[in-house]
Amino acid sequence: MVDALGIGLGALFTLIAVSLHYTRGTEWTPTEDISEDVLERRAASVPKTDFPEPMNRSIGGGGAAAGAVAAGEGEGELEEGGAAAEGDDDPSAIPDDEAEVFEIEYTKEGQTIEVKENETLLEAGEDEGWDLPYACRQGQCISCSGHIADGGHSEDYVTHHTNEMLGDEEMSEGYTLTCVAYPTTDFTLETGESP
Ligand code: FES
Repeated sequence: MVDALGIGLGALFTLIAVSLHYTRGTEWTPTEDISEDVLERRAASVPKTDFPEPMNRSIGGGGAAAGAVAAGEGEGELEEGGAAAEGDDDPSAIPDDEAEVFEIEYTKEGQTIEVKENETLLEAGEDEGWDLPYACRQGQCISCSGHIADGGHSEDYVTHHTNEMLGDEEMSEGYTLTCVAYPTTDFTLETGESP
């Protein structure tokens, strides 16, 4: 008896609640979604740079991101003055047994070493165990720059592959990006020197 009364009352209250809901609604309105606005405002507050951010050497460089920019349409990159971004003549593709060898004097390290035309000045120095400066290793920052002390344009001594930072003026003063510089003759190098 009691159970039947309980069930009956329960059904009655449910019916009243449902009918109230459909006749008046809950009057609840969803909060406006402003997440897109917030994201756009935040993006607008970040200053733009003309070149890709250098990658963090502590995590081994950011080849994928930097490479994606390098392989892009050339947007925002140095088209003139900077050398060798275009063209396929990559000196690192020269087979070892065909590569010429040059004598490079690293003044700060106090040694003259043999560097093949298919290896960079940075790689050759690292092979000696020297802790030379670098960040991106792709010619997209200036961390690895050095100075050729023999006078004249640095491209009289090296081929830059994918140099996107040094303009003709800096190179004419002898500056080079050691991470993308392949020797074409003997010379003297001062590492850790930037324009
Ligand atoms: S390490 Fe960035 S340009 Fe050489």
